[in-house]
Amino acid sequence: MSRYLITSALPYINGVKHLGNLVGSMLPADTYARFQRARGNEVLFICATDEHGTPAELAAHEAGLPIDEYCAQMHVLQRDLGNRFGLSFDHFGRSHSPQNHEITQHFYHQLDQHGLLEERTTRQVYSIGDGRFLPDRYVIGTCPHCGYERARGDQCENCTRVLDPADLIKPRSAVSGSTNIELRDSKHLFLKQSQMVGRLREWIDSKKDWPVLVTSIARKWLDEGLKDRSITRDLTWGIPVAYQDKVRPGFEGKVFYVWFDAPIEYVGATMEWAEATKENWRRWWREDQGAADVRYVQFMGKDNVPFHTVGFPVTLFGSGEPWKVVDYVKGLNWMNYYGGKFSTSGNRGIFMDQALELLPADYWRWYLLANAPESDDSNFTWQHFQATVNHELADVLGNFINRIAKFCTARLGAVVPEKGEYGSLEAETTSALEQRLSTLTRLMEAMDFRKSATELRSMWVIGNEYLQKAEPWVTMKTDPVSAEVSIRYALNLAMVFAAIAQPFIPDASAKIRKAFAGSEGPPAWPGNLTDTLKPKATITVPDVLFAKIENEQLATWIERFGGPDKKNGAS
Ligand code: 2FM
Ligand code: ZN
Repeated sequence: MSRYLITSALPYINGVKHLGNLVGSMLPADTYARFQRARGNEVLFICATDEHGTPAELAAHEAGLPIDEYCAQMHVLQRDLGNRFGLSFDHFGRSHSPQNHEITQHFYHQLDQHGLLEERTTRQVYSIGDGRFLPDRYVIGTCPHCGYERARGDQCENCTRVLDPADLIKPRSAVSGSTNIELRDSKHLFLKQSQMVGRLREWIDSKKDWPVLVTSIARKWLDEGLKDRSITRDLTWGIPVAYQDKVRPGFEGKVFYVWFDAPIEYVGATMEWAEATKENWRRWWREDQGAADVRYVQFMGKDNVPFHTVGFPVTLFGSGEPWKVVDYVKGLNWMNYYGGKFSTSGNRGIFMDQALELLPADYWRWYLLANAPESDDSNFTWQHFQATVNHELADVLGNFINRIAKFCTARLGAVVPEKGEYGSLEAETTSALEQRLSTLTRLMEAMDFRKSATELRSMWVIGNEYLQKAEPWVTMKTDPVSAEVSIRYALNLAMVFAAIAQPFIPDASAKIRKAFAGSEGPPAWPGNLTDTLKPKATITVPDVLFAKIENEQLATWIERFGGPDKKNGAS
């Protein structure tokens, strides 16, 4: 049994996530966690809400709530939506937790002890109107590169360039709109990343099996000359720049930058989990305390790659302690909505709560994974969604399950038939399916979810072809034993399909297993095709697994969410 630590990039607290966020990290991470558990491995799957930084504060301000209340509410909302999507986190934590305060301040102390932090005086935007500093997204102005007038202090959404608030032309406060602004000196802590370029490069170079998407982004950052980065901000919401309750002199009223404490929350959330379950978190994170044999896999969208291949490793290496660092980074591209970005600020695309109002989670899980933006960006359209659901889920898997369950019930008294032996058609089918099963297993190990979905679908097609050839509805009259053989074989195939589809569509998988075997517990990943159903056991007919999406339904959804015309909408 191997041990897998799996983390998904932490969703920002500022609102319900859209399907682009879901497929960008949480859903593929869940699929992999489910697969590894089914393989019999020990898995710890961790995620949390990312609760600090200016997006959180601005969202709370807009909602008219104190920031801590806002975060507490939004955390529960996101946690519940994750549950409803079947995301099987072992723990879904909060980056504002006491555990994350403790461990973030521990890393700060270690980095300081190792001479990797330096105090520097910087010029920061100060709003006289608001009586406060305006870091990152608190300031809006004209982009010095492209002239976009609503560029944020940390990044221009139009040309995507990373900015410093002091770069903006005609800056104004995002809170009050005040232009009564000046630059003031403010002391900040810089992490001397530049000293670690050699170590990071050596580490990245050793990762021969990582996706090119990931290593090329990491190398680009190293090649462009890694700058020391400021890890503190003039804000009150966040983790204080303190160690053992003593604030660093001169850093009163300042906190750590959100991108410093967010990845540390992977550890923090594991500590939260350990406290709740009386487990030992060090077994997963400290190489000197059992984590040396853990395989650590991270899932994230491509925009997060630099922070995970450079920023977080600098924290871990720089601490001088034997922390577990990531073994494999699964970076994903974007899923677009009609060729444009899914956008929270532009309210474009479909959000997790809205998706579940329309259809159960499995419909979405299947579509998103079968079209995961792995080798390239992918594109959501309603027509494509309809075609995928109707042709793959309803016509192929749903049809197979429904046909055999109904036939067995109507003609064989809903009892798993026992007569006869498998013949050449079953042997041929088994051999074709076992070949595909071994490919599928390899693809799942490689986290190639899109290709895995193709393989799964091909196996369901083989199941339907088997029924077409065996024709139990015909042989029932001419050779009833042969019909019993076919139905016994097909029912057992359904159990295999349920087991291998479980990481993708867990609810449908449970329904099949409940109807045919009376048990819903998580199935093991099959090594080959062996019968698991006992002859003479009774089955039931599962409720419709997947209903087809009708054209009228689709038309109302396009009307509600916007179709191709949304492509160039404001973001
Ligand atoms: O991009 C985002 O959504 C960030 N909240 C991801 C953070 S990942 C980790 F480092 F915490
Ligand atoms: Zn710009």
